[in-house]
Amino acid sequence: MMLVNLHNTEIRLMEFETKCIHGGVHKDQQYNSVTTPIYPTSTFYWNSLESNSGYDYTRSGNPTRAALEENIMALEGGVGCVATSTGMSATHCAMALFSPGDHIVAPSDLYGGSFRLFDKFLAEKGLSFTFVDMTDHVQLAAAFTPATKGVWIETPSNPLLKVIDLAFVAALAKKHGAITLCDNTFMSPYLQRPFEFGIDIVMHSTTKYINGHSDVVGGCVVSKSKEHADRIAWICNALGLACSPFDAWLVLRGIKTLGCRMEAQQANAMKIARFLENHPLIEKVYYPGLESHPQHALAKTQQRGPGAMLSFDTKDGREIAERVCMKTKLFDVCVSLGGIESLISFPVTMSHASMTAEARARAGITEKTVRVSVGLEHVDDLIADLKQALESV
Ligand SMILES: Cc1ncc(COP(=O)(O)O)c(C=O)c1O
Repeated sequence: MMLVNLHNTEIRLMEFETKCIHGGVHKDQQYNSVTTPIYPTSTFYWNSLESNSGYDYTRSGNPTRAALEENIMALEGGVGCVATSTGMSATHCAMALFSPGDHIVAPSDLYGGSFRLFDKFLAEKGLSFTFVDMTDHVQLAAAFTPATKGVWIETPSNPLLKVIDLAFVAALAKKHGAITLCDNTFMSPYLQRPFEFGIDIVMHSTTKYINGHSDVVGGCVVSKSKEHADRIAWICNALGLACSPFDAWLVLRGIKTLGCRMEAQQANAMKIARFLENHPLIEKVYYPGLESHPQHALAKTQQRGPGAMLSFDTKDGREIAERVCMKTKLFDVCVSLGGIESLISFPVTMSHASMTAEARARAGITEKTVRVSVGLEHVDDLIADLKQALESV
């Protein structure tokens, strides 16, 4: 079966929504499929002892996965992409650029699994980390040492939605000879493209908005330079981190609606944030779309919109936080985020349980903090549900 992709270079010049639908699509010429077929094969036969079809073994490359990689590369504006089995395998793949003795600056409130990988596993392998509040530029600048080789950024951060100034961090890191890596999971390339601000490597948990349907786990690492792209592809193959053709195909299907999902979900989130901000049982709402958010103005300069994740602190300790989580009917109590169904979570025992209590306290994650991933349901139903949960006895 021959694969054709007639207009890939032209697609890279087109608008985001067009790239989502047509980017990387390899139609087959035997049956004229409109979408990329799934190639569930572990190996590919050789035409002679000197030549093959360009594919040899699925860990190293597979046409369905290549289609997804091409699509994401176009959306982020990079020159190379690897699609991995999970977001954590993408993070591990990107962090394998570093060597023992290297020092990395990372945010104090980052995804708990990333914290565990950095603070436990990679620290044991000889990397060292300094965790800082990256909105405090004095603290950030003071964290660099002569051994600093990289800066890991998560913006907006998980779960407190702190917005980090991408251009500032990229320039500061460059001055110190360090590279910058950005976890862009909360935004998706529709709302934020870190390469445009000088970042070197972008990773995603594609489990979240990129796939968007809560039915697959996956990740990706996108590179801005050919040098990083080649090294990351080599690491991905050497460590065996790539995703299966089935998973790549599912993510490719989800990605086609990324733009309109993000628009609709963030419109819902904005209304929910305003409702919560005015509710007497809520102490504080963390959402970059609100004028009260400390980096509201910055968010407007580097994000196309505020996104569909928000967190809030309830008044009077854990009781109300627990009540709102357990009494909602539409919001499932789940880790994960970015799907079309709304989810609610309690970071202390869920997404950030792998952080130490001190690290959580340092980051400002408390027993009053609740995180919400706003989905595509009708916003009036979502608000009514949160209201009844908050006010239930
Ligand atoms: C911001 C962020 N980065 C990375 C990950 C890890 O992704 P995965 O669960 O797909 O391994 C997550 C998972 O929740 C996340 O929220």
